[in-house]
Amino acid sequence: MAPKLIRLNAFDMTCVVHQSPGLWRLPGDRATEYNTVKYWTDLARLLERGLFEGMFIADVVGIYDVYQGGPETAVKTGTQVPVGDPRLAISAMAAVTEHLGFGVTVSTTYAKPYLLARDFSTLDHLTGGRVAWNIVTSYLDSAARNLGLDQQVSHDRRYDVANEFLEVCYKLWESSWEDDAVVKDSATGVYADPTKVHAIEHAGEHFTVPGVHLCEPSPQRTPVIYQAGFSSKGRAFAARHAEGIFVAAPRAGLITPHVAAIREAAAAEGRDPQSVKFFALVTVIVAETDADARAKEVEYRRYVSHESALTLFAGWTGVDLSKYGLDEVLQMEQNEAIHSALQTFTQDDAAQQWTPRKVAELVAIGGVGPLFVGSPKTVADQLEAFLDETDIDGFNLAYATTPGSFEDFIDLVVPELQARGRYRTAYEGSTLRESFYGAGQQHVRTDHPAFGYKVTRALV
Ligand SMILES: Cc1cc2nc3c(=O)[nH]c(=O)nc-3n(C[C@H](O)[C@H](O)[C@H](O)COP(=O)(O)O)c2cc1C
Repeated sequence: MAPKLIRLNAFDMTCVVHQSPGLWRLPGDRATEYNTVKYWTDLARLLERGLFEGMFIADVVGIYDVYQGGPETAVKTGTQVPVGDPRLAISAMAAVTEHLGFGVTVSTTYAKPYLLARDFSTLDHLTGGRVAWNIVTSYLDSAARNLGLDQQVSHDRRYDVANEFLEVCYKLWESSWEDDAVVKDSATGVYADPTKVHAIEHAGEHFTVPGVHLCEPSPQRTPVIYQAGFSSKGRAFAARHAEGIFVAAPRAGLITPHVAAIREAAAAEGRDPQSVKFFALVTVIVAETDADARAKEVEYRRYVSHESALTLFAGWTGVDLSKYGLDEVLQMEQNEAIHSALQTFTQDDAAQQWTPRKVAELVAIGGVGPLFVGSPKTVADQLEAFLDETDIDGFNLAYATTPGSFEDFIDLVVPELQARGRYRTAYEGSTLRESFYGAGQQHVRTDHPAFGYKVTRALV
């Protein structure tokens, strides 16, 4: 069997400090331009030059106020605050590209399915079918407090809400407007045939949506579904709904069983387990030679902010690491943040006992994923080995410096992977789903749960 092609997503967020705390200060870094259209359009063009499958834009709707019990460190260091809406730069990026996909994060815990379905249909129209929704359920208490709740909805219940949320969206996207509902008949003045536009009549435990979808069918109808569940509830959700799954852990051994378990659960849902595409978080520092790449890392480390790194980690895990000694080993705690984030670090093998010092060093460049440093050959070897060991499909490339890390990767690693036959040399199809599954597959596959909602009813 020919080795799998490596798929690439670029990981970014509408903020200054995404996954590399402190590095916005590096000369040439453009992270502080996150609030300009030009930053995003330049980046989109660059990624399309590198034949990236997509740009994945993370989002949170709260502030990182777990570390030291307040938001001061996050604000001072720009740690995922200020943070802008991830949807709003997409049309501008779509206007300067033809193939690049856009994965956008929106939480089912605070949005409403009726409106969110319209947001994504609109984006799918404006991008010509290149949008994906990264479904998250949120993890910051500060978000809950500012969105009308005393505290977060409990972790597992958030996934129950998300399941019904998706059911409503699938109904709106797939079953409200028939394919030939829009007739645009200028002679009769009929834009759309009302007998082919159906009310979804959803009445469930969390949502009541009796009416019709507000948008006409977009190229993909249902956007490509991304997710990153790691807990048992999260995995079940991902196995049912996700077409792309993000995974993040510091080493391959922690990812392999997770991938296998989700593929097995997807098969149990009646889905082709290989249709679920996994992307692992990784950060790459590459230069012409190994020595040059190592020198670059040394230079980068002069700018990292360990307190910003600990602020991020505290937000993800819900644990205030300032209460630990720098060399004290982390312990599991129960809270309503990301269960699996803490589990990964408290249940890693005995040889790797995680302390705040080690966590800060890891997270400082690229978050909780591995950091690969070296020449194009060294990095390509590491990527191939990681992909083959874990049975993933590609990488979610975080940057150490933006756009420098992406430029280096595209100029140095992409040609090396292409020479090895491990990376595409052209895009396939025009929509993001076709990039996943091949030309012609604009809509959900027949084994995806959204397919079950496709309009089948007889005309009324
Ligand atoms: C690469 C990656 C990116 C993620 N991005 C976001 C994000 O932008 N916003 C968010 O609220 N959660 C994000 N998450 C968290 C996931 O949505 C999810 O909560 C987490 O993976 C843990 O799964 P669990 O909730 O099932 O424990 C991300 C996770 C991963 C692995």
